Amino acid sequence: MTGKDADRSTSRNILEGYIGRQGALLIALLDIQYTLGYIPESVVEDASEILNYSQPEIWGVLTFYSDFKLGKKADNFIDVCLDGPCHIDGAENNLKFLEETLIDGSTKGFEVRRSSCPRLCSQAPVVAINSEWHGRMTPNNLKHLISQLKA
Ligand code: FES
Repeated sequence: MTGKDADRSTSRNILEGYIGRQGALLIALLDIQYTLGYIPESVVEDASEILNYSQPEIWGVLTFYSDFKLGKKADNFIDVCLDGPCHIDGAENNLKFLEETLIDGSTKGFEVRRSSCPRLCSQAPVVAINSEWHGRMTPNNLKHLISQLKA
């Protein structure tokens, strides 16, 4: 099974866990995003079939909440929180570092995404690497974490 097929299978299993639960769509989508780090495009068709929502309803939820990341562009996701406390404590420096570093051909396989507050403000600025949040991040800390992933 390829990565894409495995992710679809995982998301279908998650959706099936919400069958019969009232108002399940948003929670199921959050569960998929949390588990996979993104929302496979196949979710629209699968959630319609499994949870009996119309496809426009599902698109409505996915596009209303900006934190849903639809589709996968790389094997690794790096999410940078840019809200208030993180912004004040240097999130823009981290984002600039990541964008400048990861456009280099040797670091293909990373997707840098902007995120809203995951409620870890006391550890600002925070960055998640493949859904694992790290606090008090600096460009040097990021460089170290990314080199571990590449190793
Ligand atoms: S503003 Fe970044 S964790 Fe809350």
